[in-house]
Amino acid sequence: MDFDNENRIVSPDLNEVDSDIEISLRPKTFSEYIGQEKAKENLKIYIDAAKSRGDVLDHVLLYGPPGLGKTTLAGIIANEMGVQMRVTSGPAIEKQGDLAALLTNLNDGDVLFIDEIHRLSRSVEEVLYPAMEDNALDIIIGKGPSARSIRLDLPRFTLVGATTRAGQLSAPLRDRFGVILRLEMYTPEELAQIVKRSAGILGIAADDEGALEIASRSRGTPRIANRLLKRSRDFAEVMGNGVITVDTAKIALGRMEIDELGLDLTDRLLLTSMIKNYNGGPVGLETIAATIGEEAVTIEDVYEPYLMQIGFLSKTPRGRIATAPAYAHLGIPYKANDDNGQQKLDL
Ligand code: ADE
Repeated sequence: MDFDNENRIVSPDLNEVDSDIEISLRPKTFSEYIGQEKAKENLKIYIDAAKSRGDVLDHVLLYGPPGLGKTTLAGIIANEMGVQMRVTSGPAIEKQGDLAALLTNLNDGDVLFIDEIHRLSRSVEEVLYPAMEDNALDIIIGKGPSARSIRLDLPRFTLVGATTRAGQLSAPLRDRFGVILRLEMYTPEELAQIVKRSAGILGIAADDEGALEIASRSRGTPRIANRLLKRSRDFAEVMGNGVITVDTAKIALGRMEIDELGLDLTDRLLLTSMIKNYNGGPVGLETIAATIGEEAVTIEDVYEPYLMQIGFLSKTPRGRIATAPAYAHLGIPYKANDDNGQQKLDL
């Protein structure tokens, strides 16, 4: 079976269809940005302090699951600092020269946003260290014994790095960020506010209960909420008077096979196959991946964060376990496992 994450309705990744709309929905200031209160409050203080000193903001690392607004926050940081943002990503910077070109083209104080920063190659990272630390670019001229290094000054800049996997960042790179912020999943109430805001911008009518119904099935992720909002509008227009109410939202989400908790067919397949094939675990990540025909990293980055957040799956040193609430949700009778992953006999 082919699980194409890009086209999954509940994928937190950006796809081509919604990227234009996402850009139009992106908040540009902290006052428009809903949720992530802790990150937002701290950032506001760092930005105010840097501005009052006439300084640039320290380098910022944003980490957390995809779709939570890392790019959006980087844009807000640039906007609130009154500077431009240049956007790139780890895999896009192939050679040292690519990064050198980006750095030398920055204006004083600019934000350089590097998405998926954990995917930078080591040799590119090495160019980044003196740039982050001393605003300097070290260039090697010549080869062999006559090679020498010259140092060029760079404009002052703020690197905003984003990653879904902070653990994969090399220690020297991680240590060079002055500010490290973890983005959290949004609550249904926060997502409902985001749905209402987006509906307003897109000219979609949604009442409070309809917005909350969409929000509570959006897996804590604004990108998913906005996508479900657009799809639900179609159902509301064809099946009702165009207003997204709790009833039309329920019908729409039911047709999209997204359940009350925002699980789609693949999530349910993942849990069901853990339960049916491996007695609910412990089962290794690679084994589950092979069983459902998905890549291990995708399961880890895309499916597991949400399943763990709602307490349906837990990670143990011996492998993954489907928990009692997961059984209950799927309507499968639960039997506790002993340490060997074997079901206990009902004596
Ligand atoms: N759209 C996407 N994420 C948002 C957020 N955090 N606040 C407001 N609108 C958003």
